Amino acid sequence: MSRIELKHIDKFYGDNHVLKDINLVIEDGDFMTLLGPSGCGKTTTLRVVSGLEKPQNGVMTIDGQEMINADLAYYAEPSKRGLNLVFQSYALWPHMTVRENIAFGLKIQKLPKAEIEKRLQDSLRMMRIEEYIDRYPNELSGGQQQRVAIARAVASNPKLLLLDEPLSNLDARLRIDMRSELQRIHRELGTTIIYVTHDQVEALTMSTKIALFKKGELSQVATPMDLYMNPIDLEAADFIGNPRINFLEGTARLADGKLHVKSELGEHIFDAADMTDEPIPEGEFPCVVAIRPEQVQIFEEDGPGRLPVTVYANQPAGSETLVSLQAGKSDFLSKQIGLAHYEINQKVFVQIPPEKINIYDAKSTRLIKRAR
Ligand SMILES: Nc1ncnc2c1ncn2[C@@H]1O[C@H](COP(=O)(O)OP(=O)(O)OP(=O)(O)O)[C@@H](O)[C@H]1O
Ligand SMILES: [Mg+2]
Repeated sequence: MSRIELKHIDKFYGDNHVLKDINLVIEDGDFMTLLGPSGCGKTTTLRVVSGLEKPQNGVMTIDGQEMINADLAYYAEPSKRGLNLVFQSYALWPHMTVRENIAFGLKIQKLPKAEIEKRLQDSLRMMRIEEYIDRYPNELSGGQQQRVAIARAVASNPKLLLLDEPLSNLDARLRIDMRSELQRIHRELGTTIIYVTHDQVEALTMSTKIALFKKGELSQVATPMDLYMNPIDLEAADFIGNPRINFLEGTARLADGKLHVKSELGEHIFDAADMTDEPIPEGEFPCVVAIRPEQVQIFEEDGPGRLPVTVYANQPAGSETLVSLQAGKSDFLSKQIGLAHYEINQKVFVQIPPEKINIYDAKSTRLIKRAR
């Protein structure tokens, strides 16, 4: 069991307000990823949870028990919180072999020998580092050391595992393999994981939930699917997805309970059922029409619901092709699966499913019409 609740957490370094009223619930068994650009407060949040930093305001509970109560100046010792932390820099003990690094903490817990050996072998196998068992850290590459650090944390069987960019030193291929391993560890051990990364692909592939940070604030907490389909504001939309989501200028107006939108993609009318609870400005107002590149289908012939556009550039990249298109004064990108070839300045037609379009209020930057 491990359910963590952060309530109204504020953290200052001097005048620098680095965590601003953070409210976040991490349910038992969640794989919660803290995602956001460099300097937005991800590591600081982990340090607050683990007890390495004391926030100036707020309360934190683990399984209902108060671990932080800033008003009472109460901060439980890190060792009393039942968690294990793996840092961006992995801090293995240099004078111990891999075996000793992993077994040391288990010996201190006075576990039986056979249990220690089992956990040691299991964690080495999961991280695919069995062959390095007798090596010292300075005889391992950065990526291997990083995997030893994760194995050490996993072996201690923590109820809560905190991981700060643990895959940052791995090459692209190993990183993909380790994503699968971490997902399996999460599933097999049932451990609650808080995972920090600025890599949205990592976040989208492994997490059960993502907390998106922006300059010390939480902007959205959602499942990967929800975050990808319906980012809550323009900044979140711009951050999530590679290639980036397309933004086109438009105008919108609420009439008869429906949202009427005009842009270079044509005219659309959206039902009230697809609209969010955000306030809608009076009369006609500027909006942003957002559509993911993979939702823009290209055809050589005209047809119902298709829109004439011009090819600006064509970037074939093996498994996919990115095509830059122009409609009037707007540019946007289409992602096609597989190799496709279009001539520069070729006239083609695109089809965009209206249910996949997001509409944002240009002024407030908030999502007003959801995709489904
Ligand atoms: N010990 C410290 N003293 C003063 N300021 C700090 C300290 N640690 C972090 N900060 C500041 O707090 C802010 C948040 O830092 P944090 O390390 O949490 O960012 P992050 O989201 O983990 O970034 P990154 O992706 O680069 O690791 C930054 O502006 C940073 O400069
Ligand atoms: Mg960090």
